Order: sequence, then structure tokens, then C-alpha cells
Amino acid sequence: MSIISKDIQKAIALLTNEELVAIPTETVYGLAGNIFSEKAIKRIFETKKRPFFNPLIVHISSVDVLETIVSEIPEKAKILANTFWPGSMTLVLKKHKDIPDIITAGKDTVAVRVPNHPVTIALLKQLPFPLAAPSANPFNNISPTKPEHVERYFKNDIKMVLNGGSCINGIESTIIGFVNNEPIIYRLGALALEEIEALIGKVEVKNKMEENPDAPGMLDKHYSPLTTTILTTDVASEIKKHPTKKIGILAFNSSFKNAEITTEIILSKNNDLKEAASKLYAALHELDHLSLDIIIAEKMPEIGLGNSMNDRLQRATFRP
Ligand code: TXA
Ligand code: MG
Repeated sequence: MSIISKDIQKAIALLTNEELVAIPTETVYGLAGNIFSEKAIKRIFETKKRPFFNPLIVHISSVDVLETIVSEIPEKAKILANTFWPGSMTLVLKKHKDIPDIITAGKDTVAVRVPNHPVTIALLKQLPFPLAAPSANPFNNISPTKPEHVERYFKNDIKMVLNGGSCINGIESTIIGFVNNEPIIYRLGALALEEIEALIGKVEVKNKMEENPDAPGMLDKHYSPLTTTILTTDVASEIKKHPTKKIGILAFNSSFKNAEITTEIILSKNNDLKEAASKLYAALHELDHLSLDIIIAEKMPEIGLGNSMNDRLQRATFRP
């Protein structure tokens, strides 16, 4: 029997009973548990096979709850929260003393956001506790943007995926931390850097683990299909290098199809980066299940969400 269900009351019962439920958000599906239940939080790490040094994002129902999660809110964080929440932005702020260490991996900061999905907002409003929710994929794998992706990963591990349809943005939230009250981008994501800078001015991006020990989750290899994946600006030349291989193409806006190409997914024929981002992970999931020899992915234009997608594609294709 499928574990996918729209029954919010069932989700509430499971979460109240310290069990996990996969929840829809506008970015990707999350694997959620009560932040105050050590049992639930340990299960999140076990289920994902996620290392304990990598902290979780706390999901809250509205900006009004923020002061119960964090102890300090810099002025620019207030402006960002009031502008972009509910939405695809996570703030990393000094933690409130009540936030358990297992959520923050022992750090004195906590990551928090208000997701923009009606089903999960309704769920959060009915729960007396916030939800910790990393993306609902095994460590290093592609994030899920449809309930079926989560079911495929975790049908033997969890009892329920709360069905909220396909994730509209389809790529994880943009993470912003603060040093001396100034914002720093830890992870590019579904809220474009340009939108943030239009509001608060120039913001530094430090999204590599080597350059930023405060961003522990930004591994070189991440979000990876099992099929060997190559990222290139010149798909046509790359195809010619693999004459005997069964190739799948992930293209931005135009076709590279020829007799040798088994499958091609074009992310946005309309040249629309938002549409392309929303389809990116679903396309990778689909291509990864076709028993191809290689996937050739086209590099996205280096603007707005194109930069966020290139970040994911680089990590998806990283080979040491
Ligand atoms: O869109 C999203 O953010 C999704 C949905 C479910 O909300 N969640 C998500 O969670 O992507 P996850 O666990 O896959 O990624 C969270 C990232 C990790 O890279 C983690 O290292 C970082 O947030 N993070 C969490 N707490 C942090 C902290 N205190 N300081 C720095 N980075 C933190
Ligand atoms: Mg993740």
C-alpha cells in the first residue's frame, strides 16, 4: 500500500507520537520530526544516513514564532524575514537556549525558515512544536520534488508522505548566515541572490566548505544521480566523445537530439529559469532510472536561479 496520503490529522498523530512524516514545501520535500523529540531527531539522521555534524533546518508556521527559536535577530535578518517569509529563504541565527544541540550539531546557531506551502503551514499551525526537516533523500542523493520520489527512497522507513503535489520551486532554500550582523550566503537556492541584493545591498557568497566552516553541509559532492553525469557548456561536442554510450541529455532550452540520443529532457523551452529550476531534480530522478551509461547536463545561464542550478549540477557531477 502507498504511504502517500493527504490526511493532515494522520500526520499530526504520527508527529505527536515522535514519528517521522515527509512534508511538502515549495522547495523540496522534507523529512520532518518534532524538534523537541530526541527519538524523532535521531531517526531523521539514521533514516537519511546523515552525519551528525550536519545540522537541520527548523520549520515554523510564521515569523511571529521566530523569537522562540533564536536569541538575536540582526536588523537585516528582520528585513529579510519580513519580506521573503513564507518563502524559500533559511536564516542562520544565534540559537535560543531551548533548541536542542542535536538540531544544531552543537553549534550556537540555528537554521530556520517559514516554508511557503499551504499544506505544511496548516500542519505547523496545528502542531504545538516546530518541525526539523532536512530534504527527504538519503545523504548525497537527489532531493525529492514529488511525493513519489520520497516513497521510492523511504517506503520501508517511514509511515507517511503528506501529499502536497509537486514542489513549485523545486530547488532548496537559499541559506543566509550572519557575521558581525552582516549577511553571508551559505547556500545558493530558490531565492535568487539578485532579489536579496535588491533589498539589502551587496551580499557575500561563501558556499564552499573549504572557505566557510560555518556551512557544514556544502559538500563538493552532493545531490548526485547514480548514473555518471557530466556538466558542460558544449553538449554537442560532449555527445561526440561518447559514440558507443547510451546517453541521456538534460538541456536548458533547446534540443540536441540525434540518432544516438536515447532520451532528452528540455527544462524550459520558454527560456524561463524559474520553470527550469522547478523541473531540475524531477528530470534528474527520471534520467537516473533509465539505465543510461551517462547523463550529459547543460550548464545553465549564469544569472539568477541559473547560478543556483549550476551549484547543484556541479555538486551532482563532482568527481574527486
Ligand atoms: O529548502 C530547504 O531548505 C529544504 C526544505 C525541506 O525546507 N531543506 C533542506 O535541508 O534543504 P537540508 O538539511 O537538506 O539542508 C540544510 C542545510 C545543510 O547544508 C546544513 O549544513 C545547513 O542547512 N545548516 C543547518 N543548520 C545550520 C547552521 N546552524 N549553520 C550553518 N548551516 C546550517
Ligand atoms: Mg539536503
